[in-house]
Amino acid sequence: MQPHALLVPYPETGHINPLMQLAIHLASNGVCVTFVNTSYNHQRILQSNAGRLPSDLGLPIRLVDVPDCLSENDNRDHDLNNLTKVIANVGHPLEELMDKMSAAGERITCIISDIAATQTSEIAKKRGIPRVAFWPPNASVYSCFCHAIHAISEGTFPKNGIVRHDEMISFPALPSLPGWKVPWMIGDEATANLIFSTGSEGVAGAVDAEWILINSVHELEADVLDAIAPHFGHLLPIGPILPLDVLPTALTTEKLMTVSLWPEDDACLEWLNAQKPRSVLYVSLGSIAILSKEQLHEVAIGLEASGLSILWVVRDDLTGIKGASLPQGFLDRTQNRIRVVSWCPQLLVLSHEAVGGFLTHGGWNSSMEALSMGVPMLVWPHLGDQFLNAEFIVAKWGVGLELSHGGTKDFIGSKRIESMVRKFMGSHEGEVVRAKAKEMRQQILKVVAKGGSSNNNLQSFVTWVKHQAE
Ligand code: UDX
Repeated sequence: MQPHALLVPYPETGHINPLMQLAIHLASNGVCVTFVNTSYNHQRILQSNAGRLPSDLGLPIRLVDVPDCLSENDNRDHDLNNLTKVIANVGHPLEELMDKMSAAGERITCIISDIAATQTSEIAKKRGIPRVAFWPPNASVYSCFCHAIHAISEGTFPKNGIVRHDEMISFPALPSLPGWKVPWMIGDEATANLIFSTGSEGVAGAVDAEWILINSVHELEADVLDAIAPHFGHLLPIGPILPLDVLPTALTTEKLMTVSLWPEDDACLEWLNAQKPRSVLYVSLGSIAILSKEQLHEVAIGLEASGLSILWVVRDDLTGIKGASLPQGFLDRTQNRIRVVSWCPQLLVLSHEAVGGFLTHGGWNSSMEALSMGVPMLVWPHLGDQFLNAEFIVAKWGVGLELSHGGTKDFIGSKRIESMVRKFMGSHEGEVVRAKAKEMRQQILKVVAKGGSSNNNLQSFVTWVKHQAE
């Protein structure tokens, strides 16, 4: 029988992208994949990637959708309450989908679902299908949840996960963090509690999973992985799950398989072709960070004043509402020097020789992509795991500088942005992190090459998936 995996992501870009890369890897190795998105995301993917979906390129990946059970006008992009509802409600539509597939003679041989999709664990048990949990961020964030769960059971951690913002929190094998940098301490107390309960229920539920796949590298987090492995299931670092075999030689989107929720502006690659090697600063804050209108304007003024060539991703919803607006006259004044796009093929951008640095929010995918391409980072974390990621980028790996003063969350003025961007792209300090980033790329290339730790883990996993169909 052909192995057939059902893949279920959490409905956000930072989770869909790495799971899709895993789907592509499985499909390229003889596993048939059904990838389930919510209907809202499914439509966006079809519209944004017309003609270049994995199935158009001959891979056995079928994209299907299930309703998200929200009301028509509900916010599906930035409302955490709604996203939590979606992931909690996904069970019933998934069961209906699986019933239909089974009536059509199709047999799912394994379920690979985001750790937050706890209902898939029950479905898998009921149907006698093995379930694998997928965790897109790093092992360190995973370990924060694990240690908090353990400490709660010992009565030494608040049950709702809420810590004081100024309290120093220590988890094994990690740097001490002020409470506000703990990955789930986002927004107000209710939001932080929601994130903590979703994450900790997912992590606790994954103890039963056959594997817990982590989009990270054993060598980068060996101490953290060792500290949690005895208590929390079969953790398998398989990252970075990226098409590094075709990068950086794939200079067009046709050769690179990704699916995106936004239409990508491919023309920015031609603009990059006209720039000098390592002269361009690439600026992007990922898919969920929100800036106030005032902060967005300070960034624009700072970037303009820097005098650098810049490729800047300004998502249409970057200020939380449709239609992010830049200062008056900005685009006219900077048109040859600053290229503004609403979304770009980031992997191709990072692998382009014109790009010399990345001003990033430090999302885990972006961090792994920059590490893999040897691009240094000027990091400006906004929420969740990004503060911990920033500690790694700056202090542990030495591949980046921090944009804000001492990693605070404060408003950043245009003068600071201008001076840090210049320092990052043009000073000795910038050269040091650039050289280190090149070294780290070599380390990453080794782990994904034949015989490397992530390659070995991924191969063992593919073999295991195939074995489930025997
Ligand atoms: C969030 C968290 O920040 C991240 O740490 C967590 O692991 C998942 O959820 P996000 O903020 O979107 O994700 O950042 P990131 O993890 O960096 O993912 C963004 C993805 O969008 C990357 O794969 C990046 O390549 C892609 N991207 C971004 C584009 O393809 N084009 C763009 O213009 C910008």
